Amino acid sequence: MAAQSSLILAIESSCDETAAAVVANGTEVRSNIIATQHELHETYAGVVPEIASRAHLERIQPVVRDALSTAGVTLDDIDAVASSVHPGLIGSLLVGMSFAKAIAFARKKPFIGVDHVHAHLLSGLLEAEPVAWPALGLVVSGGHTSLYAMTGPLDISLLGRTIDDAAGEAFDKAATILGIPWPGGPQLDALAEEACDAGSMDLPVSLMRGDSMDFSFSGVKTAFLYATLGTPRRENGRVVYDRTAEALSHAEKVNCAASFRCAVVRALIRKTRIALKQFDVKTILAGGGVVANRLLRRELETLAHEHNIELRLPHMTYCMDNAAMIGALAHERFIRGDFDSLATTARPTAKFSDRGRAS
Ligand code: KG4
Ligand code: ZN
Repeated sequence: MAAQSSLILAIESSCDETAAAVVANGTEVRSNIIATQHELHETYAGVVPEIASRAHLERIQPVVRDALSTAGVTLDDIDAVASSVHPGLIGSLLVGMSFAKAIAFARKKPFIGVDHVHAHLLSGLLEAEPVAWPALGLVVSGGHTSLYAMTGPLDISLLGRTIDDAAGEAFDKAATILGIPWPGGPQLDALAEEACDAGSMDLPVSLMRGDSMDFSFSGVKTAFLYATLGTPRRENGRVVYDRTAEALSHAEKVNCAASFRCAVVRALIRKTRIALKQFDVKTILAGGGVVANRLLRRELETLAHEHNIELRLPHMTYCMDNAAMIGALAHERFIRGDFDSLATTARPTAKFSDRGRAS
């Protein structure tokens, strides 16, 4: 019979956070170390893959050491080593996955390769009571915006996802338009909180056809650009706008931020509502960096209340990319004796098998 308890060393490096955690029994976080690289990518207003993988290489060893020492354990105490293996930036994924596999090989421990987005879905289980299934899963981050039907922690079916930008990416681009340094999602959210209403800009809320649970955020982003800075035109071969972000008053920026946030959150809630009409669930599990957004949290609470179901929001530390959530998912695989071979490869795209497995 497979073990019911576990102590897992988990590693996350799919984008621009180098993270390691030690997680006991899937929910007890003994350590959770995150080294962000935001300062390295800020100048480019986005993650530069080559810079990200080099930074992961420099940071992975101290981050893993820190996770073990903070937890007060050694590699001998660990039952399995896990890492995200897809989706993400391939060079970034390779660093964390190779490090995890090397430890697993050297110490003869099982290796578990985890889907990063599925792991976000379980972040609300960390340091919390077990949830009631079935659940509706919503992941909203800088790279992903998707809805899932979940009958258990590993039985995950995709219902819909963004066909263009992720919501977090759209927040970051809107923030750049307002002159806020990348990644500006959190600061845009803070600005929007200063408004006493939903903002006066008339921005489109994407619906897609019929009861589609897919998302689209590129339209609202372009509409926001034009409404904020004016219609673009070419002058001497360069694209110029009527206004610059510096010319906007603080009150105007607050209004812009509130309007944009409201349009994005409306789209997220509308699709979640469609999913709730089609699936009878006991819980909503939300995860991803954008779940830190205060309006989204409030609106999800209202929605869950209306449907008389539990809303499970992760603690703020577990909304952003972290390795503890990788440990949460790896535990479910560990107790089922479901391990991956060391020949597992990393992939930039997800594979939508419904078992949360790497291969
Ligand atoms: O989950 P995460 O750390 O990384 C990905 O897997 O993408 O999410 C980061 C994203 C960024 O786009 C960031 O701007 C956004 O989450 N974000 C927010 C807020 N906090 C983080 N967006 C809107 N409001 C927030 N409060
Ligand atoms: Zn993520």
